[in-house]
Amino acid sequence: MTEENSIISIKGLVTQFGKQVIHDHLDLNIYSHEIFGIVGGSGAGKSVLMAAILGLIPIKYGTITVLGKHVGSLEKIRKHNLQSHWGVLFQGGALFSSLTVGENIQIPMKDMENMPEDLARELAFIKLKMVGLNEGDFFKYPSELSGGMVKRVALARALAIDPEILFLDEPTAGLDPISAAAFDDLILTLRANLNLTVVMVTHDLDSISRLCDRIAVLVDKHAIVGTLKSLLNNKHPWIHEYFHGIRGQAALSGLME
Ligand SMILES: Nc1ncnc2c1ncn2[C@@H]1O[C@H](COP(=O)(O)OP(=O)(O)O)[C@@H](O)[C@H]1O
Ligand SMILES: [Mg+2]
Repeated sequence: MTEENSIISIKGLVTQFGKQVIHDHLDLNIYSHEIFGIVGGSGAGKSVLMAAILGLIPIKYGTITVLGKHVGSLEKIRKHNLQSHWGVLFQGGALFSSLTVGENIQIPMKDMENMPEDLARELAFIKLKMVGLNEGDFFKYPSELSGGMVKRVALARALAIDPEILFLDEPTAGLDPISAAAFDDLILTLRANLNLTVVMVTHDLDSISRLCDRIAVLVDKHAIVGTLKSLLNNKHPWIHEYFHGIRGQAALSGLME
């Protein structure tokens, strides 16, 4: 794999808020159809990295290329109409509590011109079933759903306009282990069936080992990228502690020598 196969390429990225530098010349490439994990300590800059790719925060230096287009600002993203190529499940991924499940799923479709209402509703039904929910859930309100169902609706909304790239920020946080594992299965199925590239911020070591083709660890304002196997041999103290600490050993025991 080379930079030419990259669906997302980041070079020399610097982001900062006031004097606080979040990323200091960070580089990474994400390839087509991979599930790419992003991990790192709380406050390491995972969500800000996603926001930078999506043009939601200003970048100070560096280049970000998505699907061959130079981005780095919302203006450029709009110019290339890139929002129609990706779907996002934000951290906390809240649904609008005053809208039904079906209405929540249709939100991204509202930005598309010329989408007749009954077609939007029909497509939302399809997405609902795609994420493993039932037709009867379409008219429910978010307060009537379990945590796992809320995540699935948020996922259906992220898939509303058939994106090529799916961004997920801690999608299984707060779910019980069984719901989290079922959500992971769903991501694998969707990637296979929809030809998606998935960029996923997660803390969940089970998800990382089951899903991710490669992983970026955000440490020291940089990204250290590799397969899980290669990162298990990494000597960086934070990376070693993360994968070989008590939780890492429990989740990854099958992979360790
Ligand atoms: N809009 C913002 N304004 C100022 N500081 C921010 C903003 N967003 C994030 N930060 C800071 O940037 C750092 C990285 O945040 P974030 O990417 O959300 O961390 P995490 O890796 O936990 O997702 C944190 O110190 C956070 O306080
Ligand atoms: Mg975050």
